[in-house]
Amino acid sequence: MITKHYKTSDKNAISDCGAIIRRGGLVAFPTETVYGLGANGLDAKAVASIFAAKGRPNDKPLILHIADQSTLNELWKDVPVTALKLIDAFWPGPLTLIYTKSNIVPDEVTASLTTAAIRMPDHEAALALIKSAQVPIAAPSANLSGKPSPTCAEHVSADMDGRIDAIIDGGACTCGVESTVLSLVGTPTILRPGAVTREMLSSVIGEVKIADAVLSPLKENEKVLSPGMKYKHYAPDAEVFTASGTPCEVAEKIKAAYAEYSKNGKKCIIFSTASTQGFYDGLRHVTIGDDKAPLTMCAELFSMLRKYGSEYDIIFAEAIDSSHEGLAYMNRLLRASGFRMI
Ligand code: TXA
Ligand code: MG
Repeated sequence: MITKHYKTSDKNAISDCGAIIRRGGLVAFPTETVYGLGANGLDAKAVASIFAAKGRPNDKPLILHIADQSTLNELWKDVPVTALKLIDAFWPGPLTLIYTKSNIVPDEVTASLTTAAIRMPDHEAALALIKSAQVPIAAPSANLSGKPSPTCAEHVSADMDGRIDAIIDGGACTCGVESTVLSLVGTPTILRPGAVTREMLSSVIGEVKIADAVLSPLKENEKVLSPGMKYKHYAPDAEVFTASGTPCEVAEKIKAAYAEYSKNGKKCIIFSTASTQGFYDGLRHVTIGDDKAPLTMCAELFSMLRKYGSEYDIIFAEAIDSSHEGLAYMNRLLRASGFRMI
């Protein structure tokens, strides 16, 4: 298949792509978090083709993207008060909410779960596309399964050209990390952290739990709240190591490991931060962002994993404090490194 390429500024981009979605095709589109790979969320066959294009395990459910809050009433059995409070505070935005689904949501979307994940993206082109398609759009991140999520149209092309009908190029995504996924079944629980933090959610609805698997690998027999968490994620071609400890310990560990791997002929690079770059003079290092403002690091992580992951054998990255937005960064970094720590 030949993939059509549009810019958001092209006059026909939204109407053409809305029509593609309506007739069962696949369109990659920008959101404020990462690029999504969209299909008609009420069409089981179209949804199934997302899994084929990505090579995605079919027990991993998808998020439905909506442009109008009233669509929730059709997709969920009912809308709890906690959801209304969160929607008032954070939609449109990088927050996905999970609650009991209605009968019109196909099992292909939810991987046969009884709940449906829904979000309203804070992106003009994404909202226009959903309105043009006149259906909720089911969309995972628009990468091949297991690869870092795409934060610009070039990443999408690299993984998806020839596999999907169209790509809408809207430039780089502002967040660069996927939405916070919050289950509202029982005590509100974060299944995947994002730019809407636990602290922000708690200030609106009180107690919010964090699923164990957010910062640790799933233990055997552990109940899988979010099927997405059991799979290998964000894996670049290079091997990634996360170093933890005080800033000085981290730098010492990384320098020792860098020397050891280099001696064995491996090409190494360090992802440093604004405050630690000075530790690595004379070694190959790039600054990923400011560790006091973890969203700056989230915004670069996937793109740097793609770029340096293909040029280097080994990437060393520093653990940061996992409160506030730091939780989203550490969740992605630990997965990208397959929980390999030094
Ligand atoms: O920012 C985002 O959320 C992006 C953009 C495109 O909107 N989308 C995205 O989708 O990251 P995806 O498919 O890559 O991740 C969806 C996550 C997975 O971890 C999945 O397991 C979880 O949401 N999820 C979806 N429906 C669920 C459900 N009913 N119960 C539990 N987890 C669910
Ligand atoms: Mg994904």
